[in-house]
Amino acid sequence: MDITAKPGSPFADPSFTIGVATSSFQIEGGADGREPCIWDTFCEQPGKIADGSHGLHACDHINLWKDDIALIASLNVDAYRFSISWPRIIRADGSVNQDGLSFYIGILDTLAQHNIKAYVTLYHWDLPQYLEDKGGWLNRETAYAFADYVDVVTKAFGDKVYSYATLNEPFCSAYLGYEVGVHAPGKVGKEYGKKAVHHLLLAHGLGMKVLRKNVPETESGIVLNFTPFYPASDSDKDKTATKLAHDHFNDWYIRPIIEGEYPGLLDTLPPEHCPLIEDGDMETISQPIDFLGVNYYTRAKVQDDGGEDPKQLDPPEECEKTAMGWEVYPQGLTDLLLQLHNDYRLPPLLITENGLASDDHLIDGAVNDEQRIRYLQTHMDAVTEAVNQGVNITGYFVWSLLDNFEWALGYEKRFGIVYVDYETQKRTLKASALALRDMLANRKK
Ligand code: FCB
Repeated sequence: MDITAKPGSPFADPSFTIGVATSSFQIEGGADGREPCIWDTFCEQPGKIADGSHGLHACDHINLWKDDIALIASLNVDAYRFSISWPRIIRADGSVNQDGLSFYIGILDTLAQHNIKAYVTLYHWDLPQYLEDKGGWLNRETAYAFADYVDVVTKAFGDKVYSYATLNEPFCSAYLGYEVGVHAPGKVGKEYGKKAVHHLLLAHGLGMKVLRKNVPETESGIVLNFTPFYPASDSDKDKTATKLAHDHFNDWYIRPIIEGEYPGLLDTLPPEHCPLIEDGDMETISQPIDFLGVNYYTRAKVQDDGGEDPKQLDPPEECEKTAMGWEVYPQGLTDLLLQLHNDYRLPPLLITENGLASDDHLIDGAVNDEQRIRYLQTHMDAVTEAVNQGVNITGYFVWSLLDNFEWALGYEKRFGIVYVDYETQKRTLKASALALRDMLANRKK
């Protein structure tokens, strides 16, 4: 099975960036070379990770990074998106871990040798535990600590980085981590979620200021995840519930960044759920960005079931699902991109994550992940459709390069285009990786 870049589609155009993505905690291991982070602590708590696993070794990328970059290069991609582990850079006493910086500089230099652009995410959820001990993202000071960390990283990396994203998916950090508690640090309470968001967005804004000062020539932005919501029926109640879900989970993150304000929903929340917004915060949060990263996996249907919150329905039996139980719905990506394009004054968009977990097995040295090939093809087509309808999209990253530690689901969910045997750390290109490699080789001809 092939993946094809249809002639005339952005995927056939060599100036459209195509890459693969990972994140630090999910692949690195090497926990002894850094401070503990909130995910280390979370993994130690019984019952939090589905398979009882942890990130102490993960894909051992800390030792295997040279091989991994050779593997990335073999795929003919233009770019590699990865994240920096904050606790590998700044120690609890405030000193800088030079070994940590050297590790990433080695990666950046090796990528440059292969002519692969480095897309660096500064925060992909691995908050140093010493900051969580002082309140984590509920403490405004964490946003200032982030800016200090960004200052250290950007000065050390200089012009080696092609593109910086401040944060990955603040929705997951705030809502999953501080409101429903299924992600680290596992706090539960409606009074926490929106406060955590505000400090994350403030960190983004303060980080942007540092980026503009230290690396003004480098493109800088943020990565958000979106779920397009659809009403479960034509009833007004379901439509209202759908709008509410959109306001809480999508608009709440993009509107402050692009328009400098929270949704009108803010005025309807109980005061104890509201963030403390200080003078100048919204200006800091909404300064111009060079790109908006969009992560897309699935859609959700929403129903008003009479409860306090809009109910997101499980996908029906008959529809195609991934190993996560998520509906495969490429049209949702086109709809989302058009909606964003119509509703906000956007910078160029970049699809920073798209992919799926599937039930992959290594048989006779091969992994035949046909569902992933179909998924990638149909989602690339969905991006093409949005571009044809006028949305400015400059690139696309597959999540993920490697099977890895899928957060609260541990190692059971395999998102990689490369299969990882966690016993031996042997990597095997799945059929999807081979198909992507061939598509990109054809494009380069
Ligand atoms: C996104 C995360 C990424 C990975 C994928 C499946 O929400 O950014 O780390 O877990 O989902």
